[in-house]
Amino acid sequence: MENWVTVMPASKLAAGSISKNKLGDNSLLLIKSGEAIYALLNQCPHLGCAMHTGELSGYILKCPCHDWLFDIRNGQFITAPEIKIPTFATKVENGEILVNMGGEN
Ligand code: FES
Repeated sequence: MENWVTVMPASKLAAGSISKNKLGDNSLLLIKSGEAIYALLNQCPHLGCAMHTGELSGYILKCPCHDWLFDIRNGQFITAPEIKIPTFATKVENGEILVNMGGEN
C-alpha cells in the first residue's frame, strides 16, 4: 500500500547529513548520500535508542548507544542482516521529499 507523505524540502537536506523528522507517532531519519535519499525509522532495533546522533560513514550509520553498525540503504545490521531498522521508499517531487509510509521496504 502506498501512502506518500511530504516530509521536507529537498534543498534543506545536505549530502552526508542526517535529518530527524516527526511523522505522526514516528520519528524518521532522512539521510542524503550522493544523489540518493534514504528514510529509516529513528529507532535502533537493539534497545531502541534514537539514531539521529549516530555517526555516519559512507552508507554505514553507527548507533550512538552501543556502536551497532547499520547499512542505511536497507537498514540491515552489519553483523546479522536479519536484524533491521525499518526503511521506507523516498522520492522527490516539486522540490519536496516524500516518503512512502504505507509499508516498509
Ligand atoms: S540501542 Fe543501538 S546498539 Fe544498543
